[in-house]
Amino acid sequence: MKNLFDETKLGGVTLRNRAWRSATWLGLAGRNGEITNGIIRTYAELAKGGAAMLVTGLTSIAEDDAAIGGEAMFYDDQFVAGHRRLTDAVHDEGAKIIMQTAMVDGLVDELATAEVEGVVRQFGEAAARAERAGYDGVQIHAAHFFYLSKFISPLFNHRTDRFGGSAERRARILVEILASMRERTSHGFVVAIKINSDDCQPGGVTLDDFLTAGRLLSDAGIDAIEVSANYTSRPNVRAGVNEGSFLPAAVRLAASVDAPVVLVGGLRSLETVNEILARTRIEYIAFSRPLIREPNLINRWRTGDIRPAACVSCNACYRTPGHICIFAGRC
Ligand SMILES: Cc1cc2nc3c(=O)[nH]c(=O)nc-3n(C[C@H](O)[C@H](O)[C@H](O)COP(=O)(O)O)c2cc1C
Ligand code: SF4
Repeated sequence: MKNLFDETKLGGVTLRNRAWRSATWLGLAGRNGEITNGIIRTYAELAKGGAAMLVTGLTSIAEDDAAIGGEAMFYDDQFVAGHRRLTDAVHDEGAKIIMQTAMVDGLVDELATAEVEGVVRQFGEAAARAERAGYDGVQIHAAHFFYLSKFISPLFNHRTDRFGGSAERRARILVEILASMRERTSHGFVVAIKINSDDCQPGGVTLDDFLTAGRLLSDAGIDAIEVSANYTSRPNVRAGVNEGSFLPAAVRLAASVDAPVVLVGGLRSLETVNEILARTRIEYIAFSRPLIREPNLINRWRTGDIRPAACVSCNACYRTPGHICIFAGRC
C-alpha cells in the first residue's frame, strides 16, 4: 500500500518521499528577474523541511512576456549562474528541484503556425538551459489561465490549423513542447506538467478535455501530471472535512493513464493524504500554502507529530511581501 514516506523513482531521480512543494511564486526576484538570496533561502528551508520535490514558482521563459511582480525570468543564459546557486542549495539539503517554465500571457488566435512552433522551440530551449543550471527537470505550466492554459482552452483558442479545433488539437502544443524538451535534454531529465482539470467557466476546458490532454501527454511519455484547476487555492479548507479540491478529476486521470499523477489543492492532514495514496492510483501529493506556513511540515509528520497542517487557507499570503504567511513567527 502506498504511503507518503515511500521512496520512489521519477525519470532519472530518486525522491525521498511522495511530497512535492507545488509551484509558488514568491515575488522575490531581482529587478531583471534574477535569482536573489531571499529565493535561495526560501527553497533551502523547504528542502530542509522534508519535501522530496520542489517546483519553483512560475518562471518566465520569454523576454517580452507580461510581467507579474518579482517573477523570476529565464529567457537566456545570463540567468543560468543564479539558478545554479539555487539548485545547489536545494540539492545540499537532499531534495530535488524542477523549474516551472511558464509564459504569463501571449497571443493565441493571432499567431501564425510558424510562430506557435517558435513558442514550442522556446520552451525546449528553456528546458535545455534549466538542465545546464542544475535542475532535475522542468514542469510545464499549463494551469490557472497563464498562457498555455489559455492556449488549450476553447474560450481562447479558435485556431483552424493543427493547434486548434478539437480537444486533441488544442492539446497538441503541449505534446510538441514535451517533444521539444526531450530532444534538447538528457535521458532521465524530468518533464512534468501542471494542468487545469477545469477552467471553472462556462465554455472552458471540461473534464473530458482534460482527460484527453492527459492521455495524449501520458502516451507521449510525460513524467508526471499535476492536477489543478482555475479555482486555484480554495479558501477555508478544513482537515478531514473538505480536503482535496481536485480529487475526483485526479482520480479519474490516474485511472486512465500510465503517467504518475500529482494531486495538489487543499490537502491538510497526513491521514487524508495516506488514505488517498492507499486507495487510488495517485502517486504524489503537492502542497503550497501548508508549506508557506510550515516549511518543515513533512519532517514534522515524518517524526511523529501528525497534527494537520496549521495553514487555515485564508489566502492572505497572496498579498504579503515574499508571500510569507501572516502567522510567520507565531506558528
Ligand atoms: C502565494 C501563492 C503563489 C502561487 N504561485 C503559483 C505559481 O507560481 N504557479 C502555480 O502553478 N501555482 C501557484 N500557486 C498555486 C499553488 O501551487 C496551489 O496549486 C494552490 O495554492 C492549491 O494548493 P494548496 O491548497 O496546497 O495551497 C500559488 C499559490 C499561492 C498561495
Ligand atoms: S497566510 Fe498563512 S494561514 Fe493563510 S493561507 Fe497563507 S500560509 Fe495559510
